[in-house]
Amino acid sequence: MEKRVGILTTGGDCSGLNAVIRSAFVRASALGYQLLGIKRGFRGLASDQPDFVELTPELCDASMLSRAGSIIYSDTKWISASLNAGVTVEDIKRAVHRRYDELHLDGLVCVGGDGSLTVLHELLSDNDQLNVVFIPKTIDNDVNHTDFAIGFQSALQVVVDAIEDIRSSARSHERTMVIEVMGRDAGYIAMYAGLAAGVDAILMPEFAFSMDKLIAHVKACYACGQDHCIVVVSESVETDDFKHKEEFVEGVVSYTHSEYKGIGKYIAAKIRASGIETRCSVLGHIQRGGTTCISDRLIGTLMGVEAINLISSGRTGKFLAFENNRVAVLDIKDVVKSINRKLSLDNEYVKAAKELGVYVGEV
Ligand code: F6P
Repeated sequence: MEKRVGILTTGGDCSGLNAVIRSAFVRASALGYQLLGIKRGFRGLASDQPDFVELTPELCDASMLSRAGSIIYSDTKWISASLNAGVTVEDIKRAVHRRYDELHLDGLVCVGGDGSLTVLHELLSDNDQLNVVFIPKTIDNDVNHTDFAIGFQSALQVVVDAIEDIRSSARSHERTMVIEVMGRDAGYIAMYAGLAAGVDAILMPEFAFSMDKLIAHVKACYACGQDHCIVVVSESVETDDFKHKEEFVEGVVSYTHSEYKGIGKYIAAKIRASGIETRCSVLGHIQRGGTTCISDRLIGTLMGVEAINLISSGRTGKFLAFENNRVAVLDIKDVVKSINRKLSLDNEYVKAAKELGVYVGEV
């Protein structure tokens, strides 16, 4: 029987997923493997009906490299919805192993974020029969052990372009623009995009800020001759009187997932109340789209090839990191000990922003 590998994308989509799928397909074909695209992440692997597509040269042509999102779909809620409905982790584990055997898979490439890696680790047992290679992706870049997760750098490009587009209007009306970006509980998008776009203040969940000091900073920018001001705000920032978890999360939808909303508008209203004409733009899901940037295409391509090479040589249970411009192979069991990361004051971009006089909070 022809050897078979499965690939799935799970968690929030981003740019670069299709680049991984394409290169995994091309490499798998070269080694004589069939590649099955398991649709909708773990849901396609564990739900009652098998849900997959056999990948072909037509589906995986080169135009995929630039296309954001996932041609095999990605699910964010199935696991949590199942657990909430009383299905146990053991049930899901059994279903995944059963489907893996039914499909006669020789290996599985999972492309996901920190939540997906936690789930995957729970699905693996000590003497596991699933030959898994995990590729980290998330626009939030909050997965430890890798310099860049797939999707992060494309998201930065979208955010920087948006800030520059908004800047012309801010300037014409001499306004302050508050721009709310994604990132969940980490401020990487806000920090890196804010610095690349030369903004005046960057508010991140990792560093507390003072509303009075922020407003004083905005006023100081105008006093120094600026005709406008840009404040980038990470979606999960909180203030003394604005708490996401109490007021603004529209239902906690999973054990790894919550939705943030509203802080940008709140901060804009406070700045406006101090007498500065201010508007807010919430960038939202455009940050997960756009044209995949060159780095995500290249890293995705390298990782797709490496994942298939590892499976074909029997080295599985691995996590692919991008470190110092190379793909590094780590053990999933070591990586899960500390999956999440956040910005710290040691981060060179945070340090540079402070030294350039950008307000990054009371640090
Ligand atoms: O984790 C990626 C991410 O885009 C976060 O930055 C954001 O908070 C969340 O997903 C949005 O999720 P959803 O697509 O479910 O609204």
